[in-house]
Amino acid sequence: MPVHYNGDRFAGSSSCIPCHKNIYQTHVESSHYNSSTIVNGQTLKNHFDKWSNQLELTDVEVEVARDEQTYVQNTYSKTTGGLIDKSNLDVVIGSGVKGQSYLTFKGDSLFQLQASYFRLIDSWINSPGFPNHKYSRPVTDNCIKCHVTFAKNKNFIGNTNVYERESFMYGIDCERCHGPLKKHVDFRSGNLTNSTGDVVIKIDTLSRQLKMDICVQCHSGLRAIQVKDNPFSFVTGERLDKYAKNYNFGRPEAELDVHGNQYGLLKSSKCYKNSATMSCTTCHDPHQNQRGNEEHFNSKCIECHSTPENLHTTSNFNSRDNCISCHMPLFPSQTMKVKLGDTNDETSVNIRTHLIGVYIDSILQNKKNEGSKS
Ligand code: HEC
Ligand code: HEC
Ligand code: HEC
Ligand code: HEC
Ligand code: HEC
Ligand code: HEC
Ligand code: HEC
Repeated sequence: MPVHYNGDRFAGSSSCIPCHKNIYQTHVESSHYNSSTIVNGQTLKNHFDKWSNQLELTDVEVEVARDEQTYVQNTYSKTTGGLIDKSNLDVVIGSGVKGQSYLTFKGDSLFQLQASYFRLIDSWINSPGFPNHKYSRPVTDNCIKCHVTFAKNKNFIGNTNVYERESFMYGIDCERCHGPLKKHVDFRSGNLTNSTGDVVIKIDTLSRQLKMDICVQCHSGLRAIQVKDNPFSFVTGERLDKYAKNYNFGRPEAELDVHGNQYGLLKSSKCYKNSATMSCTTCHDPHQNQRGNEEHFNSKCIECHSTPENLHTTSNFNSRDNCISCHMPLFPSQTMKVKLGDTNDETSVNIRTHLIGVYIDSILQNKKNEGSKS
């Protein structure tokens, strides 16, 4: 197990099982846990057999194929038919809710591959942002920081694509949110009752901002300005702004993209501004997959808005169990757009906005005197 930059050793989530079995069991079903993994027959096979495995581009044809125990991406020239490149699929990024991308190691250097999988059409696509020919995108910390628990770049500030391969902890696991916990595991082994001296942080005792900062690491846009150290240096309990900032600070709230900036959007909502306690975990249990559980989410609204009938005119409100479809509608993402096949048409993934408000025909109804102070 790797050692964090703060000097503490990771324990790995399997070591939590003896004492936190229920949390572990639901956590391994979450998209966080499955957000990255090593490619092998098991992590790829099921999907693989189902897809047609050719991707036709302007100059080249890309094929994903099984090669004994491994999976490879072969790129053929359309003019000569010759094989231009053969790369292993080493790492999967994405649980597959919206799609998956694949990374390859050349020695210790990490690159993204041309072919990605896109759930909306259940097929292969040209990776978002890739031109229509052979191209390789070096994968720095600025790409993987939100999809793995930990990785050690050869350069401390994380701006190269050269890694210590054995330092990778794939998936977004317990210790990305709780910090490296070998000390907690050692302390608790044989001592379940005496808490004096336990290093583990009780998150529900933190201030709202510090609690939010755990999720904000990855759900507040790119945060591409690294102010201090590197993207894996932050640990829970610290103030995230000390480490990383966004380029889009100061942008008007309506422009915040619905993809990846749930924090910016939520923070601009009246529910957040006018309540002292709302945080991401008010609605989301971080240890469970709750996608599609509308009943759960609507019940959260009613915890604070206990008599919704009184807030609505009868014409636009007729049931208690549909709050999110009107007040957190789905919008096409501005950044998660892909070009399908060889055409120039772009298709967007629909994302649930976290700017909670009154929408009519998908247009936010800005009421009087509501500036964007936050
Ligand atoms: C040998 C048993 C044991 C192991 C192994 C163990 N824990 Fe714990 N953990 C405990 C006990 C006991 C507590 C204290 C519970 C309490 O105070 O109610 C605790 C508390 C915690 C808390 C704080 C809970 C709170 O009240 O906020 C977290 C977070 C936590 N553990 C995470 C982990 C993670 C992650 C792992 C694996 C890396 C792990 N634990 C491994 C026994 C263990
Ligand atoms: C700042 C954090 C961040 C960075 C950096 C980032 N991602 Fe993501 N990525 C996310 C989040 C959050 C989601 C989930 C989408 C959402 O609902 O907002 C996601 C979703 C995805 C998905 C779809 C996953 C699924 O299961 O549906 C893929 C594939 C993906 N990212 C690949 C990449 C690649 C490749 C890079 C580097 C070029 C990258 N991401 C960089 C945060 C990030
Ligand atoms: C995405 C971030 C995230 C991941 C991953 C995560 N946790 Fe948590 N965990 C939290 C947060 C946030 C809280 C505080 C919950 C709250 O505020 O209600 C918490 C609370 C806890 C608690 C104390 C409260 C409780 O529910 O008993 C324990 C114990 C715990 N986590 C263990 C684990 C273990 C074990 C894993 C991995 C199997 C894990 N966590 C993975 C974010 C995470
Ligand atoms: C290390 C980066 C990281 C952290 C920390 C993190 N997330 Fe995520 N989160 C992601 C990525 C990446 C995805 C997309 C995973 C995928 O589908 O591959 C995601 C997906 C989600 C989803 C959608 C789940 C689904 O079923 O599609 C929710 C909800 C979510 N995160 C909430 C939270 C909350 C709440 C916290 C804080 C307690 C948190 N996240 C912390 C990176 C992170
Ligand atoms: C932690 C408590 C809390 C939760 C949970 C909560 N809200 Fe709110 N919400 C508030 C507060 C406080 C206000 C501001 C009320 C005011 O100032 O009149 C508000 C305002 C609103 C407004 C008016 C927004 C505007 O711009 O005029 C809407 C609509 C709304 N909430 C819908 C929802 C929905 C839908 C949910 C569930 C997804 C939800 N709320 C969950 C506390 C909450
Ligand atoms: C008032 C309730 C509420 C709060 C607070 C909240 N969310 Fe959500 N979130 C939702 C609902 C509802 C969905 C849609 C769930 C579904 O599609 O089944 C959602 C979906 C998501 C998704 C998946 C987006 C998509 O469309 O794929 C992510 C990621 C996410 N939330 C992250 C966060 C983060 C991070 C925070 C804190 C900054 C947060 N949420 C706070 C209610 C909330
Ligand atoms: C069919 C769409 C729709 C549904 C479903 C819906 N709302 Fe609304 N809501 C509106 C509209 C439109 C308004 C503006 C007031 C009006 O004209 O009724 C509103 C206003 C509100 C307000 C703000 C009142 C104010 O002016 O400050 C709150 C809070 C709210 N809704 C909460 C909820 C909750 C909680 C639910 C689920 C129980 C819900 N809404 C379901 C459309 C809807």
